[in-house]
Amino acid sequence: MTARRVLVTGGSGRVGQFVLAELAADYDVVNADRVPDGSEVEHVPLNVLDLDAVRRATAGASAVIHLAAIDYDWQAPPQDYIHVNTLGSWHVLQAAAENRVERVVLCSSVSACGLSEMRPEWTPQRLPVDECHECRPVHAYSVSKRIIEQMGQATARGSATCVICLRPMAVVLERTLPEFLRFVDSPGRRWLFYYVTGEDLARAFRAALECGELSYGTFFVSAADSTLEQPTLEWYAERIGALPEIANARRYRDNPRASVFTAAAARDVLGWEPTSNFSDLRRRAMARQGG
Ligand SMILES: NC(=O)c1ccc[n+]([C@@H]2O[C@H](COP(=O)([O-])OP(=O)(O)OC[C@H]3O[C@@H](n4cnc5c(N)ncnc54)[C@H](O)[C@@H]3O)[C@@H](O)[C@H]2O)c1
Repeated sequence: MTARRVLVTGGSGRVGQFVLAELAADYDVVNADRVPDGSEVEHVPLNVLDLDAVRRATAGASAVIHLAAIDYDWQAPPQDYIHVNTLGSWHVLQAAAENRVERVVLCSSVSACGLSEMRPEWTPQRLPVDECHECRPVHAYSVSKRIIEQMGQATARGSATCVICLRPMAVVLERTLPEFLRFVDSPGRRWLFYYVTGEDLARAFRAALECGELSYGTFFVSAADSTLEQPTLEWYAERIGALPEIANARRYRDNPRASVFTAAAARDVLGWEPTSNFSDLRRRAMARQGG
């Protein structure tokens, strides 16, 4: 039996490298990126802003994992986030629907809900935050991610293509961990201290490819714990303010360091669960620095 062809846009990037490695053994994987990744995976040069090229690249694919975008980290001008992220995603969705691609997995972000922006007037309305939580993004990157979810839903509604949107937390890689630790450990940092490892995120993309019948779905992809050693409800009250409604008190009793964001839907629908523990990642990073 021939392996199913999976097109991964943006496969040369930080997340893409993990996704290509996760899928390469089981699928006929093609990396469609403006630049090659240097691995043995087949590379097709592609600019997702070129609709005809996206049409050609998606023809014959069973599934598309769409990672190509300008990430928040690059501090791009607002119009570039909207232009590349939303129009590029639209091209992928339109071409996939035209070519009857079975499934598109879009890489959204925790930012789609706007809570990553840490605006004083927009904080979690209840804990943990799940996919039913209202989205109020303002930053162009966050807005672009919210728009691609809505475009994905429209495509699923109007075509035979299933669309799954994953909302990863901040992606932690071994090589970026020291810088990430400096960020989260900076005194008085006001943040929600979420993360997911590159390896776990890549497994979430596999789960989204392989889960059963689904027309459309949006899923937070989060580690089970937060990046701080202090109990979550304690640092939340100190750094963010009065605690909102605690919708699942048991979660924070069973694991006092449980994340602000829950990936329960990804577990229940996609069959995905995170495997990381930030205390272990922290210890390993410190041992590497010491050694
Ligand atoms: N890194 C994170 O913490 C994080 C968190 C949540 C969501 N995301 C999302 O994950 C996805 C991958 O992010 P990343 O961290 O790997 O970013 P990255 O910048 O490392 O990789 C992005 C890749 O997309 C490619 N690309 C950019 N514009 C393109 C275009 N017009 N046509 C074709 N390819 C293009 C780039 O060449 C690059 O290889 C993005 O959608 C990003 O928004 C990232």
